[in-house]
Amino acid sequence: MEIFGVDIGGSGIKGAPVDLNRGDLAQERHKVLTPHPATPDGVAGCVVEVVRHFDWNGPVGVTFPGVVTGGVTRSAANMDKGWVGVDTAALLSSRLDGLPVTVLNDADAAGVAEMTYGAGRGVAGTVILLTLGTGIGSALFTDGRLVPNTELGHLELKGHDAETRASVKAKEDGDLTWERWAHRVGKYLAHVEMLFSPDLFIIGGGVSRKPEKFLPLIEGVRAEIVPAKLQNNAGIVGAAMAARPASASG
Ligand code: BGC
Repeated sequence: MEIFGVDIGGSGIKGAPVDLNRGDLAQERHKVLTPHPATPDGVAGCVVEVVRHFDWNGPVGVTFPGVVTGGVTRSAANMDKGWVGVDTAALLSSRLDGLPVTVLNDADAAGVAEMTYGAGRGVAGTVILLTLGTGIGSALFTDGRLVPNTELGHLELKGHDAETRASVKAKEDGDLTWERWAHRVGKYLAHVEMLFSPDLFIIGGGVSRKPEKFLPLIEGVRAEIVPAKLQNNAGIVGAAMAARPASASG
């Protein structure tokens, strides 16, 4: 079956119908640039543009880079603060003429996609997916079951918000070498490991395309560390999975 998935990010809003049997996009995705400031109203207009591009008329799953409970966006570390407290599922549904909309955290979406179709497939025990990008997103699984909204990117590391030290943005802003950045990522992973003792770390985000640049440089972590497999489309696929009607199978 096909469900529509949309991934809201700081630079782009992208979406496509997803084939849930294959865990892949059913058509080439459509992307529009995120407006700045990225207000709820402006971004909602972009989501409508992406969905309408495909003439879609069914359930829509949407990721958001912040805490989401019951369709309400509760934090917005790297987005306009106007999102805090907004019933985003209701807002997007009304802008899409009543299509059912499910909203979830972006890293949680990437995580459920990876656990079903990618690097975490069939892995039992505790698995943590971390997306390294503008911020750091996290998805925590125990025996394949998600604990949503863990926000491990905001753990404190050496007195700083961890994502300001170990995200890809921190690497770029600080002009860090791969070695220095991998050292910071290693310290961060060791801290997360101290708290949760995961069996597996999955590293997602754009850098998961170049794992050879930094994974071999990471020291001091006992758990296995692997790159994500779905890369760019994990958020879209996970969003669609979350929007699958409970009555549907396959
Ligand atoms: C947000 C998370 C999000 C992550 C990746 C963080 O700043 O707090 O909710 O998952 O960035 O986008």
